[in-house]
Amino acid sequence: MKTLYVKTYGCQMNAYDSAKMADLLAPLGYATTDAPEGADMVILNTCHIREKAVEKVYSELGRLRGMKARKAKNGGRMVLAVAGCVGQAEGAEIVAREPAVDLVVGPQSYHRLPEMIARTARAGGHALETDFPALEKFDSLPAPANTTISAFLTVQEGCDKFCTFCVVPYTRGSEQSRPAEAILREARQLADKGAREVVLLGQNVNAYDSPSTDNKNWSLAKLCDALADIGGIDRIRYTTSHPRDMGDDLIAAHGDNPKLMPYLHLPVQSGSDTVLDAMNRQHKADDYRRLIDRVRAVRPDIALASDFIVGFPGEGDADFEATLQLVRDIGYATAFSFKYSKRPGTPASTMRKQVAEEVKTARLDALQKLLLSQQYAFDDSQIGKTLPVLFEKTARETGQIMGRTPYQQPVHVIASPALIGTIADVRIQRRTANSLHGTLA
Ligand code: 5AD
Ligand code: SF4
Repeated sequence: MKTLYVKTYGCQMNAYDSAKMADLLAPLGYATTDAPEGADMVILNTCHIREKAVEKVYSELGRLRGMKARKAKNGGRMVLAVAGCVGQAEGAEIVAREPAVDLVVGPQSYHRLPEMIARTARAGGHALETDFPALEKFDSLPAPANTTISAFLTVQEGCDKFCTFCVVPYTRGSEQSRPAEAILREARQLADKGAREVVLLGQNVNAYDSPSTDNKNWSLAKLCDALADIGGIDRIRYTTSHPRDMGDDLIAAHGDNPKLMPYLHLPVQSGSDTVLDAMNRQHKADDYRRLIDRVRAVRPDIALASDFIVGFPGEGDADFEATLQLVRDIGYATAFSFKYSKRPGTPASTMRKQVAEEVKTARLDALQKLLLSQQYAFDDSQIGKTLPVLFEKTARETGQIMGRTPYQQPVHVIASPALIGTIADVRIQRRTANSLHGTLA
């Protein structure tokens, strides 16, 4: 038996890919372990979205170099692999900067890992795979060996939007949808293993558009309807969406499909039309407001989430104020916000009028303060209500189990672990910084 340590950085799609890499290597005799020291193989599944994420990878590689040397001294071999978007973007440069790395594999080619491992074991040296064989990897992946109660399921990859700040179109390639039949099969397999919720993943998941054998194209809404018919799947979520791809049928599904949860992560990035234009977001702030009005018309209680970037090149005080105003107008349940980070090769990285670091810091603080107050207000609005909670796992605190409301808020309840994998009504009593707490109704 050999040991495999996988470390995941970045988005949920990476988390999905990490699990698949472990499944793929299991037949080769690799069992996963939760520490890198002494492991026979270490995979860093990396993220390239912001500069900090990349720096973390290189510092981790430095630590691993030492572990690899210790293992070699004892006559062992640690295979060190860099997967994910840093692998895709930097390719051979990684090996030049950190020669301890044996394998570099991009997010579309990790199904070739077994053969790459064999190749370097035989011939030594480094192996590199960073092609874009569209969706080919999915055909090579084994059925899920096990599942969590809430399971990720990648349905779409890549992006054609080319927002001027973003590396995704370069690291993940163009938009590709998996065939609906393959997705439904994987969902059935997950349900058989005990999943009660599927979270459909894609960089632009609502652009999902797959030809089917009956030649009627599948939209994300149609896919959600078909998933709702699978016995055992009680909840459906999807992430992340682009405002431009929010189709009429998907909006309608939020009113019609009772298994589609009332939570929508729809990034807006900025509330200023000037900045949105410079970002190439292809919509105005008011387009977004109208879109949210339409979603709320069919599902008034929906929890809204977004991503924001502050300090995009050229963002002035008035632009930032427009972002704050949009946040006040919409009212978010939760949100992710970032300082603009220059990414090599993207158009925004060479724009003039880059914003000073201290201005970015001040804006991020102000925005996060507002967003946090909205999050607390949204969470507090659930206190006193009885909500159906899907229990996912035992909590760190003994005697407690953890689940989620339809709005995706974590809830902690003192209850039997036998309830894990079931939905039960919970009376919400109070909120702490990161969770709701309640009792079984
Ligand atoms: N700088 C800062 N944030 C970024 N994001 C993407 N690219 C950058 C960048 N260069 C943010 C966006 C996106 C989220 C996944 O990461 O808000 O929606
Ligand atoms: Fe990046 Fe924009 Fe595509 Fe989202 S829509 S992945 S931010 S290019």
